[in-house]
Amino acid sequence: MWSPKLFVAAFGLIGSTFALTLRQTSSYPPPAPCTGDCSGVHDPAVIRRSDGTWLRFSTLGNIAIASAPALTGPWTKKGAMLPQGSVIKLPDIDNQELWAPDVFFTNNQFYAYYSVSKSGYKNSDIGVATSKTGDPGTWTDHGSVGVPKVAPYNIIDANFFRECDTCKNRWTFGSAWDGVFQTSLTDDYLKWSGETPKQLLYNSTYPAHPQNYVSITEGGFLFWWQVAGKKYYYMFFSSGACCNAANDLEAPGDEYKIMVCRADSASGPFFDKAGKNCATQNGGSIVLGSHGNVYAPGGQGVLVDGGRIVLCYHYADKTIGYGYDQFLFGFNYLDVSSGWPVVTV
Ligand SMILES: *[C@@H]1O[C@H](CO)[C@@H](O)[C@H](O)[C@H]1NC(C)=O
Repeated sequence: MWSPKLFVAAFGLIGSTFALTLRQTSSYPPPAPCTGDCSGVHDPAVIRRSDGTWLRFSTLGNIAIASAPALTGPWTKKGAMLPQGSVIKLPDIDNQELWAPDVFFTNNQFYAYYSVSKSGYKNSDIGVATSKTGDPGTWTDHGSVGVPKVAPYNIIDANFFRECDTCKNRWTFGSAWDGVFQTSLTDDYLKWSGETPKQLLYNSTYPAHPQNYVSITEGGFLFWWQVAGKKYYYMFFSSGACCNAANDLEAPGDEYKIMVCRADSASGPFFDKAGKNCATQNGGSIVLGSHGNVYAPGGQGVLVDGGRIVLCYHYADKTIGYGYDQFLFGFNYLDVSSGWPVVTV
């Protein structure tokens, strides 16, 4: 019987033979070891507290908070950031599931941006909460940052960026349908500044697996580094489909993967290694894709630990499963000495 699904399955098989050949040339190291609570993690945001404790915030469980003495663990899940959900009440969402946290520390407190959304939903919103310690039970919810809900963006996947204490902040968000946008926040970091959001990343390609919207470009994460005396701004992002059932996987190459684009300024324009504009020419260079038993890495964040750059992400392990709650916390170090980030051990 002819069905688009069967066609995709057959095409996927041919595709995977090609992909295998292509991928043999690029070898990624495995994720660094992780002990303790390393499972059930999506979109990890990791930050080190002044007492040396690592805190990890992630999607599921109204922003699950885990702590550890080292990035490798042992991780212990401590509880939810907002156990009662957000004060943001969206009309079509009954059971809130808060997504994609982004956390930073300044003015003696933690700021966490979180998304209120659900699968396939475009009317999402981003809220902000603050806490002195970061522990569960200490968070004050300030509600929506107030980016106006006008097309063409989906208000999820926040990322706060500030180069120095007195520098102007950049605030990046966006996801499926129209890609990643950037604006800024007020000086207390709780509200939208009024700056019109500008589109920085967009992929107009339709994936092989039939869907009525273009390939997903989301989870923008801005990071700067100086390479051979030149300052670069890197926009890391996730591209493709984050989560598929084992019997309905994406065509190889269209599953989630971590990409990067680079700019001379924090507000872009961003370009990939080949010089393609990441907003207008489908630009984006791959940093980490599926390899070995690692499937669909994404939801990344970048931080500096002891002078080394760390890429944190989630992934599925093919030997464990593709279930949404089976995703694992992973991290690797990045080498940017060539000017472009390369995943290392
Ligand atoms: C754009 O989408 C296509 C289809 O999913 C994918 O193959 C490609 O890698 C994506 N490009 C970028 C830059 O994310």
